[in-house]
Amino acid sequence: MFEVSKRLQKLPPYLFAEIDRKKKELISEGVNIIDFGIGDPDLPTPENIIDAMKKGVENPSFHRYPIGKGTPAFRKAISDFYKKNYEVKLNPDEEILVLIGSKEGIAHLPWALLNPGDISLVPEPGYPVYHIGTILAEGTPFFMPLKAENGFLPDIEKIPGDILEKARILFLNYPNNPTAAFVDRDFLIEAIKFCKKNEIVLVYDAAYSEIYFGEKPVSFLSLPGAKDVGIEFHSLSKTYNMTGWRIGWVCGNNKIISALAKIKENIDSGTFEAIQFAGIEAITGSQESVKELRAIYKKRMNILVDGLKEAGFEIDMPKGTFYCWLKIQGSSIETASYLLEEAGIVATPGIGFGPSGEGYLRFSITLPEDKIIEGIRRMKEIWVKK
Ligand SMILES: Cc1ncc(COP(=O)(O)O)c(C=O)c1O
Repeated sequence: MFEVSKRLQKLPPYLFAEIDRKKKELISEGVNIIDFGIGDPDLPTPENIIDAMKKGVENPSFHRYPIGKGTPAFRKAISDFYKKNYEVKLNPDEEILVLIGSKEGIAHLPWALLNPGDISLVPEPGYPVYHIGTILAEGTPFFMPLKAENGFLPDIEKIPGDILEKARILFLNYPNNPTAAFVDRDFLIEAIKFCKKNEIVLVYDAAYSEIYFGEKPVSFLSLPGAKDVGIEFHSLSKTYNMTGWRIGWVCGNNKIISALAKIKENIDSGTFEAIQFAGIEAITGSQESVKELRAIYKKRMNILVDGLKEAGFEIDMPKGTFYCWLKIQGSSIETASYLLEEAGIVATPGIGFGPSGEGYLRFSITLPEDKIIEGIRRMKEIWVKK
């Protein structure tokens, strides 16, 4: 009867359909599934934020269209947060834009920066929205492999000259999903120089910046020259267990921020002001819950990593994020199917994040400790037996 647009037809097929089908089938048969698949916090949003939301919802002035770049109060709170946490100065009026979750901003950004045929430099394995957003804006992704031997950093010097000529965006994401890798200052300083030289916008995705187990990750915007070439996406989702609330922001270079604001003005009408009000409490209120969250994830990650080592895998404790990127023998899809069928365990096949993810499984620790322990017990049974 009708055909979907060519733009939509260009999107890659969903790789995990068969695994999802099998998972649903096993659940309907009553199998107790242990789900390491989804990167979505299982713990509730801290109470102080919920209380602020309750107050916010009752305020009629928050019931209207939340147009603009975000409420002045929330943007001021974001600017204070950057000053306090990263020693970065941001002008709340020009350098901050509130989003309906950082995914929304990442997906819309290519509309503001790319002309048809322009290139985005995209890490793979990586968060799919970088290349999907590019395709939807009629741009072309150029994939930069992230390899263990390079510390899961892209080799930007190897990008061919004809690609660089058309490249308009470089996406970077550290702490990284799915590899859990961190980046150092030196790499980012080189990346800033590279972007300046080649007139490329550096888009830094800091969704996991607050989920670390030891040293705090480097903040891109705190580096010299960062604001001249780039912007940073930040999210409340992971830090405060707020994935369902849909709130995040982008900050940095004012020209890029206003370009994205213009796209958004014409597409959505902003983030519910009661949620922004609760967002103020999240970033200016007590940060005890964030410390507790880090401790919980660290404990869970230790249990998983120790268990995987006992099952015979070589794996180092990640420095942060809630992902464990496990090197396996053979096909990631076949191994994930084997785990599901033989042990009722869901893990994400690495190839779903890009071809260089082949040979890996991603385990997310957004599930209670007892489930992780049970998952390890089951994995040891089938893997040691194998
Ligand atoms: C690397 C990365 N960036 C961005 C996001 C989007 O987060 P949100 O839209 O909830 O802010 C995610 C979510 O999983 C992610 O893994």
